Amino acid sequence: MKADVIIVGSGAAGLTTALALAQTLKVLVLAKGALSGGSTAWAQGGIAAVLDSSDTFENHIDDTMVAGAGLNRRETVEFVVERAPHAIERLIELGVPFNTHGNTLHLTREGGHSHRRIAHVDDATGWSVQQALVKAAHNHPNITLLAGQTCIDLITGQHELRYSGSGRVWGVYALDEASGQVWAHTAHVTVLASGGAGRVYQFSTAPRGATGDGIAMAWRAGARVGNMEMMQFHPTCLYNLDVKNLLITEAVRGEGGELKIPPGYPGAGHRFMPDFDARAELAPRDIVARAIDHEIKRLGLDYVHLDISHKPPEFVRGHFPNIYEKLLALGIDMTREPIPVVPAQHYTCGGIIIDLAGRTDLPGLYAVGECTESGLHGANRLASNSLLECFVFGEAAASDILDYWDSYAAPPPILPWDESRVTSSDEEVIIKQNWTEIRRFMWNYVGIVRSTKRLERAQHRIRMLTEEVTEYYGQFRVTTDLIELRNLLQSADLIVRSALKRQESRGLHYTLDYPDTLAEAKDTVLVP
Ligand code: FAD
Ligand code: SIN
Repeated sequence: MKADVIIVGSGAAGLTTALALAQTLKVLVLAKGALSGGSTAWAQGGIAAVLDSSDTFENHIDDTMVAGAGLNRRETVEFVVERAPHAIERLIELGVPFNTHGNTLHLTREGGHSHRRIAHVDDATGWSVQQALVKAAHNHPNITLLAGQTCIDLITGQHELRYSGSGRVWGVYALDEASGQVWAHTAHVTVLASGGAGRVYQFSTAPRGATGDGIAMAWRAGARVGNMEMMQFHPTCLYNLDVKNLLITEAVRGEGGELKIPPGYPGAGHRFMPDFDARAELAPRDIVARAIDHEIKRLGLDYVHLDISHKPPEFVRGHFPNIYEKLLALGIDMTREPIPVVPAQHYTCGGIIIDLAGRTDLPGLYAVGECTESGLHGANRLASNSLLECFVFGEAAASDILDYWDSYAAPPPILPWDESRVTSSDEEVIIKQNWTEIRRFMWNYVGIVRSTKRLERAQHRIRMLTEEVTEYYGQFRVTTDLIELRNLLQSADLIVRSALKRQESRGLHYTLDYPDTLAEAKDTVLVP
């Protein structure tokens, strides 16, 4: 297909960009699997914005910089924080039914925030946001939504019929999941809004498709990536052997939930967070996740307890109706008993390097949302700043594309996808096994606490698997699983290389070999 602008991804970042561009341009939105299959639909806590008269932009900026351990770009933080109230207004116009308290929005609180500033829809904010955006995009005559398209690689000057070899981006090659054919979708401008790479870890709160595809595609096409070692671990994911990725929102701690040692161990029932940080359960995520990890390893626990049963049952059910029901179905009544929790990978703070207009290094390519490194999150994202980043940068990128539209030429004739690899593999089991292997060693060697030796072990395995997968990729017809495996490996490689480069501990990157934080905060930048 041809369009003015192609957007890869139909989450908060992609659809915000699409709606802002569609005033004048024809936009094609591509999604792997279902339209609501990204992280956006899974978001629980809400969206951070200064909306209360006792709060200020300065407070939100400071909280973001403190959580980010000074690695944030202040210019970006100011840019996003100052646009946050407008983002919430825009969502209200789109019909997002935020919770209210009298005539004002009800604001909840999460770790690292000095004030109540999280606008939310119960404990399932993302679902309401995703539905409102999809509805608006469906109804827009200038937007075409195409699900079931797994994008493989960016189309660049190398793929022009009259080879120019330039880095100019002209669209994407995508696997049509229904027919198994690969199509070339072309456009004047391409926007990556493809989400994070959380699934590179064995335990993650992110959906199945968070395999770092956009980051890997941009890297292969020649764009720089930054701070990939900053993978965020959420402190409280349900510990359950069957349900591996049920997040227990940070708002549970924001509304009074306490972390305790479970029965049967020394110090049973002890509330341990005050031993680690004066902000206790409301310290930034890196600190809380590391404290839980420390207690689990020190005492040989499977999990710790998150307890909000001291609050009235109607308060708990009223604030967390979805989590309450989900836990009840698993036999846990959170109004009467504690919830077993462990940390799990949650968010990719690094990604494709962009400027304040969402521009990447490559002409014709923008990027927005979790796949980017915009300078907002630094070494650790502040809770509920992620959806906000999608809305602010979606509008900023659209505005820049519209401003410079005349400079973006139409795509030249493009080579079709190389169909020489026509053989279907009968060794699907290898793909599954490699998926599992990467996720396991990334969890064990590149997790919450790292060391140079563990990182080098991971790097060695990545090299071996890359050889195997490259050979496999060169021979067989592509499938979504194979495309994702290739991107998982690429993302794992970028994370490990970045982690090895950072010879200090800062924010989410903690290494036993360099436990101190250097005086100067510097980005880790990888250049292809
Ligand atoms: P996503 O919403 O992940 O969308 C990615 C899109 O890209 C999808 O449409 C996907 O299909 C598409 N895609 C990916 N690869 C390809 C490909 N190869 N080809 C075609 N399409 C592709 N943040 C907050 O601010 N507040 C919260 O309360 C909050 N809660 C969270 C709870 C959970 C459980 C999780 C996992 C995350 C939470 N986050 C929260 C983080 C936040 O949800 C995400 O960072 C944000 O939604 C990312 O939006 P996005 O548009 O960048 O990507
Ligand atoms: C949560 O609800 O705890 C997730 C919030 C976030 O990731 O920002």
